[in-house]
Amino acid sequence: MYPDPILITGAGRRVGLHLAERLLDDGATVIAHYHSETKGVARLRERGAAVLCGALDTADGALALASAVRETTPRLRAVVHNASAFAGSDGDTQTAVDQFQRFFAIHMQAPWLLNTELAALLRASRMQPADIVHITDIFAERPNPAFDLYCSTKAGLENLSLSFAQRYAPEIKVNCIRPGPILFQPTHGEETRAAILAETPLGREGGAEPVYLALRALLDNDYITGAALPVDGGRHLAC
Ligand SMILES: NC(=O)c1ccc[n+]([C@@H]2O[C@H](COP(=O)([O-])OP(=O)(O)OC[C@H]3O[C@@H](n4cnc5c(N)ncnc54)[C@H](OP(=O)(O)O)[C@@H]3O)[C@@H](O)[C@H]2O)c1
Repeated sequence: MYPDPILITGAGRRVGLHLAERLLDDGATVIAHYHSETKGVARLRERGAAVLCGALDTADGALALASAVRETTPRLRAVVHNASAFAGSDGDTQTAVDQFQRFFAIHMQAPWLLNTELAALLRASRMQPADIVHITDIFAERPNPAFDLYCSTKAGLENLSLSFAQRYAPEIKVNCIRPGPILFQPTHGEETRAAILAETPLGREGGAEPVYLALRALLDNDYITGAALPVDGGRHLAC
């Protein structure tokens, strides 16, 4: 397995929790960042993951997480940027400005700061090249106007990913995973779910495991950098 720990952000629930648990199942050492305490975080702690709490919607929060990681390990095999905020764009201008700043901070600023502050730990990985994986969204490429703030900050993250891929080669590979309908949000009603699945060629909600398999595929292939891999049942073909 991997000789050095893998940091996953937003690992307290849903996809991030699944990635952390599956890496633990497969024998990896995990540093799990979380925002709110959950039963999942307690389970990760019991299973031996290092768990670090922090808010990524401010620069200070991201820098504090980077310091905490440096205190936990001298080396990292990978950083997986999974933390995210999801909501439709608010019609009220001031609320939209606040939302924009939060999405920018979580989707772009925090990954930039963590990648920059933790590059030395990735370069020290005993398995080269090390990895940075940004979890984005198929809507980074094909935006939905009702979610323009979410989509554009995910698109910004994809663009940053390309700069990091050039800047950090050959010691660190930098890639994106673009999920589609992996796990519906509780706010998705029956009608919305049916409409989304109707335009998904593989016709079902994927679940978090395909994201884990994509992560492993990127970690285990030493000749892919600057790529964005859709994990979406083919929905990018139709939406
Ligand atoms: N689920 C899907 O079908 C789907 C589709 C497309 C893309 N994606 C992408 O795949 C990734 C995982 O999806 P998901 O559905 O599991 O996401 P999610 O349910 O929205 O969870 C996101 C994680 O980010 C954390 N987070 C939110 N605000 C934060 C903040 N201010 N500071 C630090 N952490 C914060 C959350 O912690 P708290 O809950 O404690 O706030 C949570 O653990 C995300 O990047 C998402 O954009 C998912």
